[in-house]
Amino acid sequence: MVSSSLFNPSFSTLTPKPTNPTTKRKNRLAPNVIACTSSTYDSSSPTTSTNSHPPTAPPHNHSRRNAEENIKDEARRHRSASGCDSRGFMARYVPFNAGFDSAEWYSLDDIVYRSRSGGLLDVQHDMEALSRFDGAYWRSLFDSRVGKTAWPYGSGVWSKKEWVLPEIDPDDIVSAFEGNSNLFWAERFGKQYLSMNDLWVKHCGISHTGSFKDLGMTVLVSQVNRLRKLNRTVVGVGCASTGDTSAALSAYCAAAGIPSIVFLPANKISTAQLVQPIANGALVLSIDTDFDGCMKLIREITSELPIYLANSLNSLRLEGQKTAAIEILQQFDWEVPDWVIVPGGNLGNIYAFYKGFKMCKDLGLVDRIPRLVCAQAANANPLYRYYKSGWKEFKAVTAKSTFASAIQIGDPVSIDRAVFALRNSEGIVEEASEEELMDAMAQADSTGMFICPHTGVALTALIKLRRSGVIGPTDRTVVVSTAHGLKFTQSKTDYHSGAIPGMGQFANPPVTVNPDFGSVMDVLRGFLKSNRLKNK
Ligand SMILES: Cc1ncc(COP(=O)(O)O)c(C=O)c1O
Repeated sequence: MVSSSLFNPSFSTLTPKPTNPTTKRKNRLAPNVIACTSSTYDSSSPTTSTNSHPPTAPPHNHSRRNAEENIKDEARRHRSASGCDSRGFMARYVPFNAGFDSAEWYSLDDIVYRSRSGGLLDVQHDMEALSRFDGAYWRSLFDSRVGKTAWPYGSGVWSKKEWVLPEIDPDDIVSAFEGNSNLFWAERFGKQYLSMNDLWVKHCGISHTGSFKDLGMTVLVSQVNRLRKLNRTVVGVGCASTGDTSAALSAYCAAAGIPSIVFLPANKISTAQLVQPIANGALVLSIDTDFDGCMKLIREITSELPIYLANSLNSLRLEGQKTAAIEILQQFDWEVPDWVIVPGGNLGNIYAFYKGFKMCKDLGLVDRIPRLVCAQAANANPLYRYYKSGWKEFKAVTAKSTFASAIQIGDPVSIDRAVFALRNSEGIVEEASEEELMDAMAQADSTGMFICPHTGVALTALIKLRRSGVIGPTDRTVVVSTAHGLKFTQSKTDYHSGAIPGMGQFANPPVTVNPDFGSVMDVLRGFLKSNRLKNK
């Protein structure tokens, strides 16, 4: 048994008890949360109430906090007044795919990224404890916290705190109230290009640093903050990045006053992505290699120096990222979509989505999970090749240059997690050529979105699966948009200005016109006669 001396929980509650499923359901508690407002309730204190009618929304405290208090002070005061801060839920690291009776486990306060055999780790929650509350209770609790500024539950990630990092003190959390991202009904794109009426885009990139990475980084940096308060030797946090991880890491570290160090492949990320860690005060190393080369270096460095590793090899990140899946269900009023399409590079996110959906099913919030599609750029497609081989042989590839630069990864760290997620969700893997992904991005933008090239990869997968009839016209489908389009203006500019040889089917270049009435009128007359208006 390997465990930290700082944290030595008895994990007896994690050992599955041989329970009759019917009895177990009857024993589920619907705790009385009346004493704790949505801003203060920490349900890690399961009561033994027999209230069989869980409230749809806990009562609100409308009184304004004292002027000298901040929101953390206020939350602390409420917790101690209501006695709602005792902890009953637990989580720990176990080797990936280990059962509940795994002999190898680690405290989340341990600094460990790999299992003893060198495999991946996973955060395993005490499902027995969580399942003492029924699905209706969790749905109601999560719904009651959406969109508030109560610390820390106003965050889309921390509104699910009990399922993320149950034991962290809210005072240690570093949050930018991330999550709660827009689920966009792609009415026109769906109708015009796909004859679909129930197509949605989950805009995870409309976020603090412009990508879904914020969801995981709030969790990881919060845990580092906790470790430093526990006087653990962590001098800084480091990552290799294709742009978005470094942006998120540097922002959350800057907010907490923790040094960050980022390894970036030189000339392979967008200017907007590069300037983010620079502006946030990170030590930025621009290295003449690709992402896989940076990843190798950061792993070597973090095993030598007390720098905490922030890549998604670190399973803590996925705990935050999985909340996007829970949020999707929540936004559909807990109805399960048929398909969820996720662009994949290092392949942590596809597993995070699976885990979020699976926990909702296992804890009775929904009765099934959606089918998952992982979409890769054809220039960086090791998962696609593996899938096409019938999962027979995985071979890392040397990733070629792609406009979807954040997924230009040839040797994905989370390959085993991705395969597990896809095999257990009747999953599919698709790929997109450079032209396909850029055209899909331009088509989507022309219907009012402003998406990143990675979302173009996911939309290409959707277009292909619609064309082949795998996805039906009325299937409720969610495409996960992973970053904000404003990070990728150069590739959009190049596409629309015809600067990319052989591309530009949907280009909309600006018209250069002389500054006089006649010239402007000539252009407008031509425009009014053109087919472009008829197509609208
Ligand atoms: C914008 C964007 N999309 C997709 C991905 C792929 O996510 P993952 O590496 O978890 O597969 C990343 C991260 O690398 C990203 O930054």
